[in-house]
Amino acid sequence: TFKVKFNFIDQSSEPIEVEVRKGDTILDAALDNDISLHHNCGAVLACSTCHVYVTKGMDTLPEISDAEEDFIDRAVNPKLNSRLACQCRITADVEVTIPDQSVHLGH
Ligand code: FES
Repeated sequence: TFKVKFNFIDQSSEPIEVEVRKGDTILDAALDNDISLHHNCGAVLACSTCHVYVTKGMDTLPEISDAEEDFIDRAVNPKLNSRLACQCRITADVEVTIPDQSVHLGH
């Protein structure tokens, strides 16, 4: 198993560290542990609502696809370490920051 540490940009919660199985995505890790993270399209790479910031372990995640990049451009406040959580299969320990989930997201 690997560890995922979640931090919350809006400080709605203390940081949480969870264990995941190999092959789970960051979105799976959040939802399996009752961490709220939008996923409007149901994890099929057709929205930008599962946007997170990866603060550790970015180089261990699958490479970003053109489609993922396009949707990240439409996310709220994208940064260089932005990813879509449903596209990030975990193969090592990672740390991510979850954006404010109360912000209205367009897509
Ligand atoms: Fe829609 Fe991840 S849930 S792209």
